[in-house]
Amino acid sequence: MKKICTLVLALLLALIFTGLVQAKDGVKKKRVRPHLYGRVIIDNYSTDIGLAPVAFDHWVHRANATCRLCHVDIGFAMAANDTEITASDNIRGFFCGTCHNGKVQYDGKPLFRACSEESSNLKIEECQRCHNNGETPDLEEKFYKFSNKLPKERQGNGINWEQAVAKGHITPIDYIEGISVEGTDLAIVDDFAITSKIEGMPDIIFSHAKHTVWNGCEVCHPDIFMGVRKGATTYSMIDLFQGKYCGVCHDTVAFPQSGCKRCHTKL
Ligand code: HEC
Ligand code: HEC
Ligand code: HEC
Ligand code: HEC
Ligand code: HEC
Ligand code: HEC
Repeated sequence: MKKICTLVLALLLALIFTGLVQAKDGVKKKRVRPHLYGRVIIDNYSTDIGLAPVAFDHWVHRANATCRLCHVDIGFAMAANDTEITASDNIRGFFCGTCHNGKVQYDGKPLFRACSEESSNLKIEECQRCHNNGETPDLEEKFYKFSNKLPKERQGNGINWEQAVAKGHITPIDYIEGISVEGTDLAIVDDFAITSKIEGMPDIIFSHAKHTVWNGCEVCHPDIFMGVRKGATTYSMIDLFQGKYCGVCHDTVAFPQSGCKRCHTKL
């Protein structure tokens, strides 16, 4: 009986909450296809100078590198277009150019280079690997080839990323010589439950250990969570739906908030 009540409550709340989110955005959110979940279109300059905007896909990259490596060591912002990447940044080996420099090896070949200031013998197809406004017809096939062998999930990319790492299917790197600083790892803090404050709604189990695999400590502390003391930051489900706190990652890159039961697990 209690279980049924919980389910009904969760459903009702889901309806109310999605209503709230839609009212805020003014448009109905369409479910994103698995290979497009986590895509960011970067366009501070490209359109203005006659190039196609850049499509960056998280799934391609998170299989190879941790969130921490890109968002702390390399310094990408955690909001689309906030980094203001320029062509000369990339050419000088920053941002995308940290890896896409024609030298870093991947799969036995050097990774293709980002940006160029030369206009002579410029091969536009090379630019279009990134400057393609999201028109990437081969990507879906590549995605299914890649995700086939990985543990499945219903939402987001349809991949259980946590299991994919735990079972050794993928081993994202967390360190680049000359970019990353060594020896900053802190001891992992215990998992804890966050009470949901509403009777019948299961509490949330937050795992520091599982999050640290991808995020280290610095992705979350102090920018997203002050984290000095449990309960010091207060947030509600509405904050999450607005893209704050857990919602910074859950709905954009990590599994989406429609997966109520993946967070509200403690009965
Ligand atoms: C290879 C580098 C790389 C990796 C690895 C990476 N990101 Fe990102 N991420 C980016 C870039 C680039 C952007 C866009 C930044 C910009 O436009 O200024 C971005 C944007 C984001 C955003 C904002 C999305 C939006 O729609 O506004 C979030 C949230 C995010 N990343 C979370 C993560 C999480 C969580 C992980 C690990 C699972 C991760 N990222 C792994 C490079 C990376
Ligand atoms: C930490 C290193 C790293 C950084 C930083 C990085 N990439 Fe990549 N990128 C890779 C690797 C490795 C691959 C090859 C992955 C594969 O083929 O499975 C790749 C592949 C790609 C692809 C090809 C996807 C396809 O169609 O196969 C695109 C496009 C791309 N990156 C764009 C970007 C952009 C744009 C940025 C900067 C905003 C960026 N990358 C930053 C490592 C990186
Ligand atoms: C690995 C991905 C990648 C590739 C390949 C790439 N770029 Fe870029 N480029 C970017 C990103 C990311 C930005 C920032 C986009 C924005 O904000 O509009 C950018 C921005 C630019 C800009 C505008 C910013 C500025 O500083 O003026 C120019 C010009 C540019 N690229 C030229 C090129 C040319 C020419 C090529 C092909 C030789 C190329 N890029 C290939 C990722 C790439
Ligand atoms: C995905 C985000 C995330 C990551 C990554 C993360 N934390 Fe936290 N941390 C939290 C949240 C959420 C809380 C609870 C804060 C709150 O409720 O205000 C917290 C709380 C804490 C607390 C207070 C605990 C208590 O019992 O009062 C400490 C200490 C802490 N974190 C340290 C760390 C360290 C060290 C790392 C890296 C090994 C780390 N955190 C990684 C999200 C994160
Ligand atoms: C990414 C993890 C996550 C997902 C997914 C998630 N929640 Fe929550 N939920 C939380 C956290 C964290 C809180 C805040 C707990 C607190 O009050 O400290 C919360 C709080 C709540 C509360 C208590 C009231 C409030 O606003 O604080 C309700 C009800 C709730 N969630 C319903 C849902 C429903 C329904 C879904 C699915 C549509 C859902 N949640 C999905 C993490 C999640
Ligand atoms: C900095 C980004 C980030 C933030 C902030 C964040 N998460 Fe996550 N979380 C992830 C990533 C990445 C994963 C791996 C799974 C995936 O990508 O779908 C994950 C996985 C999880 C899982 C599944 C782990 C498991 O047990 O299988 C739960 C539950 C979860 N997060 C809850 C939360 C809650 C609750 C909060 C807020 C208190 C939160 N997360 C904040 C990035 C984040």
